[in-house]
Amino acid sequence: MSKGKFYITTPIYYPSDKLHIGHTYCTVATDAMARYKRMTGYDVMFLTGTDEHGQKIEDKAAAAGVTPQQFVDNIVQGEKGILDLWRLMNISNDRFIRTTDDYHVAAIQKIFKKMYDNGDIYKGTYKGKYCKPCESFWTESQLVDGKCPDCGREVQDAEEEAYFFRLSKYADKIQDLLENTDFLEPRSRVNEMVNNFIKPGLEDLCVSRTSFTWGVPVDFDPGHVVYVWVDALFNYTTALGLFNDKYNDYDEFWPADVHFVGKEIVRFHSIIWPAMLMSMGMPLPKKVFGHGWLLLDGGKMSKSKGNVVDPYVLAEKFGVDALRFFLLRTFPFGSDGNFSNESLIQTINVDLANDLGNLVSRTVAMVQKYFDGTLPQDQETDETLDQPLVDMVAALRDSYEAYMEKYAFQNALAEVFKVISRANKYIDENAPWVLAKDESKKARLARVMYTLLESIRVCAALLIPFMPESCTEIMKRIGASEYGWDSLKGFGVLPMDVTVAAGDVLFPRIDAEKALAELEAAAEAAKKATLPPLEIEPFAEENVDFETFCKSDFRVVKVKDCQPVKKSNKLLKFTLDDGSGTDRQILSGIAMYYKPEDLIGKTLVAIVNLPPRKMMGQDSCGMLLSAVHTEKGEERLNLLMLNDAIPAGAKLC
Ligand code: ME8
Repeated sequence: MSKGKFYITTPIYYPSDKLHIGHTYCTVATDAMARYKRMTGYDVMFLTGTDEHGQKIEDKAAAAGVTPQQFVDNIVQGEKGILDLWRLMNISNDRFIRTTDDYHVAAIQKIFKKMYDNGDIYKGTYKGKYCKPCESFWTESQLVDGKCPDCGREVQDAEEEAYFFRLSKYADKIQDLLENTDFLEPRSRVNEMVNNFIKPGLEDLCVSRTSFTWGVPVDFDPGHVVYVWVDALFNYTTALGLFNDKYNDYDEFWPADVHFVGKEIVRFHSIIWPAMLMSMGMPLPKKVFGHGWLLLDGGKMSKSKGNVVDPYVLAEKFGVDALRFFLLRTFPFGSDGNFSNESLIQTINVDLANDLGNLVSRTVAMVQKYFDGTLPQDQETDETLDQPLVDMVAALRDSYEAYMEKYAFQNALAEVFKVISRANKYIDENAPWVLAKDESKKARLARVMYTLLESIRVCAALLIPFMPESCTEIMKRIGASEYGWDSLKGFGVLPMDVTVAAGDVLFPRIDAEKALAELEAAAEAAKKATLPPLEIEPFAEENVDFETFCKSDFRVVKVKDCQPVKKSNKLLKFTLDDGSGTDRQILSGIAMYYKPEDLIGKTLVAIVNLPPRKMMGQDSCGMLLSAVHTEKGEERLNLLMLNDAIPAGAKLC
């Protein structure tokens, strides 16, 4: 009998690039939770999907020379796309929503109209700052050092006629919700939201755009598209059938039990989302849980920084289950964690190969060796030796459950591994190889084996949500047919005359040095593979003497400002810090390849002793160095960018 309904969601992912291990982290956590809840007897709805609208996607599609729909289709459904990744990772979602699905688009139009009709959406003029990569609007006061508080990138001035949502109206209610209920967890995120966003004053939110078209059209005002976050957040309800006929389980599953979201989108889920639901007169989700980020070398992984880790490479090399397990065993779910290949390998070797894998293979091998694979009914208990392990096994389900209910995956797993270690110790304490030498100790030996098999049964069953394939395989090896939730509390469910089956090594030990070298080589190869085919300029035939070369003064410069040059679609005007204390102005013909705002703060190289010259009536004192190549018959310039730690004025030699 079902214990009730449980509705859990992941964020819906932007199909702007292939997903990396950071995205995989949240989906694996949600999957473990969904599997756990199913195991405990709930009727689970697990939703994930893709958030396909917005300017970022429109721009990327244009750059790739395809339509936005073709662009997102490729990343969602194409080879090694998002759907492939979730299949590979054994994600058991019940539903997958794409925000470009017709039923969702039509429902969003109705939702927008409803909030407009009830007076919570009104027309005004948007003036402010916009972070394009995050698709977020910010007020001046929310910026950190003038930059986007989420990603630290440059923001742009924006002004346009737009619709606004009366977020300010809901400020008090939201503050109350955050401070006086368990709506948002971990608790630390509540202070962040209240102090950084609510207390400074919640402003109304701009919820439509006119500067691009790739979005849900506002049907009563052509030219406007619905702000991508309004479109995205309501996915959690349209995917259940709100305002559409595609699905019809809204009444059964809404409100959601929990939304798992990354920490940078907690603001959207804990402030904007409940306010819009209040406006719609809909029940609020029971909980939003903001998890931490997987960091690489201390920074957030991102495609634009070029520091992403490919889940395909890791899953192929180490196995899907090992990767799933590592993600939830190593990092506390609510905090950031540093990803490294070294710690992945270590977790596999210690927990999986040594502790769990060894326990299973030793036990199965001994049952085969001493009893031809089937235990006898005649078994002899030794209270003193057996009880400590039996007690731990009997108590495990409750302590595991208590942590799982708090989304503390790492702690729940630690509980299981305490018992696994204890079981390994039990083998040494009982020395079965000694018992086996004495015919009169056969019954005692059988009980030792039974105790081990039963311990494995409970531990491996509780690990199924994390490692579904391997742990179901363990059940076959130890001859367990009953391992449902009710069978995991207590001890003695396996039949006394259980029969085991051997198999291949479950978690092979990894040769760390070899694996790390291979991963490095694969990363290099992947980098090369993404480089476009080049038509290289012929090398110069004439030599230049060293003295002439040394006359060129190359310096490191920092971009203080960068502006387009009026009436020129080629030139950008740079104000540079060259270390001399006086700003240097250089004009460079790279406007076709860069947006000026993206270059501010960058560290570049300039030759500074060229004679000044006038370009479009302005002085240019030097030249910025670029790498030039030809791609599909067109010339491309790539500014030489250096590590930001190098000071302005440093000489290149
Ligand atoms: O935010 N570690 O989509 P998204 C942990 N479309 N989590 C990470 C991560 C990392 N290194 N990098 C990304 C969006 N994530 C919106 C969601 S929901 C209505 C709309 C997480 O593809 C990130 O924190 O940019 C977020 O929760 C999720 O991946 C999707 O990110």
